Amino acid sequence: MSPGKSTQAIQSKRDESFRSVVYPIYQSTVFAVEKSDDYEHFIAGDEGFHIYTRNSNPSIRNVEEKLARLEQGEDCVLFASGMAAITSTLLTFLKNGDAVAASQRLYGATYRFLRDVATQFGIDVHFLDDDELFEIQEYAPTVKVIYFETPINPTSDCVSIARVVEAAKKIGAITIIDNSFASPINQNPIPLGVDIVLHSATKYLGGHTDLMAGVAVGSKAHIKSIRQSMIVFGGCSNPMEASLLDRSLKTLSLRVEAQNRAALTLAKFFETENKVKKVHYPGLESSPSHEIAKSQMSGFGGMLAIELEDLNAAKKFCDSLKVALNATSLGSVETLVSIPVLSSHIRMNDEELAAARVTPGMVRISAGLEDMDDLIADFKQALAAT
Ligand SMILES: Cc1ncc(COP(=O)(O)O)c(C=O)c1O
Repeated sequence: MSPGKSTQAIQSKRDESFRSVVYPIYQSTVFAVEKSDDYEHFIAGDEGFHIYTRNSNPSIRNVEEKLARLEQGEDCVLFASGMAAITSTLLTFLKNGDAVAASQRLYGATYRFLRDVATQFGIDVHFLDDDELFEIQEYAPTVKVIYFETPINPTSDCVSIARVVEAAKKIGAITIIDNSFASPINQNPIPLGVDIVLHSATKYLGGHTDLMAGVAVGSKAHIKSIRQSMIVFGGCSNPMEASLLDRSLKTLSLRVEAQNRAALTLAKFFETENKVKKVHYPGLESSPSHEIAKSQMSGFGGMLAIELEDLNAAKKFCDSLKVALNATSLGSVETLVSIPVLSSHIRMNDEELAAARVTPGMVRISAGLEDMDDLIADFKQALAAT
């Protein structure tokens, strides 16, 4: 029997020097070799043979191995941030003249990278809606990569992973998913056929608003290539951050399961409030994403979004909060709210925002771990202020 997710997240590799329970922080940028011939291990790309921390480091490697197991992949590489993981992974598989199909509903910085930067490198970018992605052989049959998120930032709408994988298989494209909103506790895309899973580990994996990191998990061969990009682009993690992340992973399932419950309670509360025009949460039976989410997630996640009358109402709501914080991140123990048109989805025109289904009055909510009575009272008084 393979160990459960909590066991996997808690158990670290043993460092035998002093039998410490917590894996040590190897705060060293460089590791000396016994003899020059040892560089042969480095040249062969052995990640367990550490010579320089930008390439690999024992404290970083401990977390990479743990994350690979949690996502049911063969290997993992840790980055300095989610965006470092996303951009380095995309640029591993795409070069001048190649084409990529991406969902038109993505985290804003990823969307802007594809729209503004990838195109500068001569990469042909097709932004498609879900139905077009599912029929990729008709809309963009020559793409090398299909890139998507589910649940999607900021609406938490879900996309059928099985249908994207099926479509990609027809044209032989690599599938890359951003799994940050779900976390590996709620969703494992690799067993569903996805090639590469990415995370902003700054979110649920870190969970305490005190670290930045990014993750790519996939087959040994894919990760070997992605690691080479990480090494030359330089977006590596560091031992301190990796150790903080290791600390966080030990409570990942506890936190995520509590955040799943909190988000559902909040979504149901907002549904009863008449100043809220719409509630987006895949755990609600009324959600258009509910059936898809049920088929591919074991929990519906801690992220929801509400729509208020307009941007002014959204600002008044956020500015009146006393428990939840108006801060543009997610996945932490603190409940955070943000207005996408002022934060994650800036520098997008009305047409692009409409395609991403982002409205000016939308408020994204990341459910934290505060007492629910305090959160509901806070949200009630903030709604009254709008
Ligand atoms: C879904 C998603 N992916 C990626 C990122 C980028 O991660 P990072 O801020 O760690 O670079 C974010 C950040 O908000 C995100 O929400």
